[in-house]
Amino acid sequence: MASITVPHSMMLERILAMEIVRVTERAAVNAARLRGCGEEKAADQAAVDAMRRELNKLPIDGTVVIGEGELDEAPMLFIGEKVGAKGGFKVDIAVDPLEGTTLCAKNMPGAIATIAMAEEGTLLHAPDIYMDKIAIGPDYPKGVVDLDAPADENIRNLAKAKGVKPQAITAMMLDRPRHADLIAAVRKAGASVSLITDGDIAAVIHTADPDKTGIDICLGIGGAPEGVLAAAALRCIGGQMQCRLVVDTEERRERVAKMGIKDPRKKYQIEDMVRGDCLFAATGITDGRMLAGVKFGDGIIETQTVVMRSVTGTVRWIKAEHRQLEKF
Ligand code: FBP
Repeated sequence: MASITVPHSMMLERILAMEIVRVTERAAVNAARLRGCGEEKAADQAAVDAMRRELNKLPIDGTVVIGEGELDEAPMLFIGEKVGAKGGFKVDIAVDPLEGTTLCAKNMPGAIATIAMAEEGTLLHAPDIYMDKIAIGPDYPKGVVDLDAPADENIRNLAKAKGVKPQAITAMMLDRPRHADLIAAVRKAGASVSLITDGDIAAVIHTADPDKTGIDICLGIGGAPEGVLAAAALRCIGGQMQCRLVVDTEERRERVAKMGIKDPRKKYQIEDMVRGDCLFAATGITDGRMLAGVKFGDGIIETQTVVMRSVTGTVRWIKAEHRQLEKF
């Protein structure tokens, strides 16, 4: 019988797709224990500790490229930190162990633990500054919306491409004063605006399945690390996304340069932020539109995770029941 040879890197990547589920599950459970306690830092630290512990068990030689900040401001999972059991596959890792710290502290919907992993040197090294973003789902011709086009034009073009009136389009964005003009322009174009208090990674992912989520487009300024993580998810499930760092002070210009970014005004496409195949996973901490939060039962903990692979575009929704509670 002929033997089938699966390349080592692909085999490892398949294994890692399951392994990173464990990483986000543990981070989510640890953060969920502090849901509603009003302790943003403590919940974040709990998620970071668990994620780091699990990452260090994986057969990877990983470098954190999107993390909790620079070494001097983040003792763990800092940008540049090496993680993994070493000797393994060389990977870039982007983490947001607790995306939505306020959501978790206030026990509001939508806090998640999330990670993306890709071959070494392929993820954008973005500093923790703001990023202007626009994202839509996979079923449109390329260039139907553009980060530099006026918002009303983008809404009209998107509606036309979808074959609906602008009134049937829903745009999701963070509820921030900086978005006042954007919100007004989208409404003036006839579209509905769905505002969120936090969590624009999930907002971008929602655009990939507008029939289910009701969200056609995600717009506005959010964190750059969240932008790279969202780009990794869209790289797996399809969609269009354009982003540009908001470099509006000398201090930010220096931080961008320190990351090796030569053109701070560059308009990034998904392929510029995630330059090869990647894995993406997220586990719900609090109940949300995308994922159920952690449930603590009698001798059992339940989690829900989504894990995606860009090589195949496979998306797995994993509802797990954990019984060895000492592991958390
Ligand atoms: P944190 O978990 O770091 O608080 O991020 C939550 C978030 O809402 C992100 O989803 C978003 O990209 C960013 O904050 C927006 O930043 P700001 O709250 O400063 O507007």
